[in-house]
Amino acid sequence: MIIEKIKESRFTPDVFNIETFGTAFSDHMLLSWYKDGKWSEPIIKPYGKLEFTPAISVAHYGQGIFEGMKAYKSAEGEVFLFRPEKNFERMNKSAERLDMPHITEDIFIDGLKALVDLDRQWVPDTYGMSLYLRPVMFATEEAITARSANEYLFVILTAVAPNYYNKPLSVKIADRYSRAANGGVGFAKAAGNYAGSFYPTHLAREEGYDQIVWTDDATHTFIEEAGTMNVMVRIGDKLITAPTSERILNGVTRDSMLQLAEAQGWDVEVRKITVDEVYNAHKNGNLKEVFGVGTAVVVNNYVAVGYGDERLELPTLSPEESYGQILKKKLVDIQMGISEDPYGWRVKVENLVEA
Ligand code: COI
Repeated sequence: MIIEKIKESRFTPDVFNIETFGTAFSDHMLLSWYKDGKWSEPIIKPYGKLEFTPAISVAHYGQGIFEGMKAYKSAEGEVFLFRPEKNFERMNKSAERLDMPHITEDIFIDGLKALVDLDRQWVPDTYGMSLYLRPVMFATEEAITARSANEYLFVILTAVAPNYYNKPLSVKIADRYSRAANGGVGFAKAAGNYAGSFYPTHLAREEGYDQIVWTDDATHTFIEEAGTMNVMVRIGDKLITAPTSERILNGVTRDSMLQLAEAQGWDVEVRKITVDEVYNAHKNGNLKEVFGVGTAVVVNNYVAVGYGDERLELPTLSPEESYGQILKKKLVDIQMGISEDPYGWRVKVENLVEA
């Protein structure tokens, strides 16, 4: 791995006061180019602009995938990644589906560790904050032929991560648009999945909602996932989430939350959830919580769910009562090195590179 350090760091402690997610990029980025069937030796260099022509194929045909991860710092100054192997596996599943080359473990995992090590001062140790890590791969061939490209770029960017949403969200259940269909790319972290969601989200905003809860494309009767999150529903004291499928992203936070919920001894069900079930539970007073979980968002307890013309207001629970908030605390405590890590989820970033 080639390391080209920044001459003068751009870091100032003020950066940790940032309120917008994904705009305060750290000093360095990692790059590896795919050409002639192989990845180049990765280079870590100062974060900055790259030059492409408008014929770059990703701009035309959307061969682009990404991952979302975070690095955390404990009060003792140790820096951790969280289950990075899950993101590595998922990135290659996405690559396969988009007919892109697999990224290698030494570029992805060792690259992450080296990059985060070098920029460790950018990892906040404030509870609930982190450094967001964004591995991304896209087609760079200078060709507008509609076929899989022959050249790609793999990049890892990092940006200081405050809360993704600064408030509890209200969400609208999709009854017209769809995010994914069977046989499609819904399970992959494909850039186009997000592009396709922006217009329906824009319409939902005009109706006073922040995000959309996607339903199955065929019938719009099953709850699937929301915006940037997997969705969990609490009816009575039962926690329910939809099984992953060809249409639903296999979230690392979702998987971790399920394990933590089971360890609490709660009644957890991974099964299809109908919109009617949620609606009826609300009418009967049994719908206690609906929350979104994801790497960027961690947990967001929704304040309301829109169904047709109705806005179903959700009860306000204290952090001690809310399953979402209990799980969030358990998760963040593990991520930040505050509590034991019986699952072996934390991966320590050794201090090897001198900043
Ligand atoms: C994440 O939660 O890390 C995601 O990838 C969602 C992203 C669109 C912000």
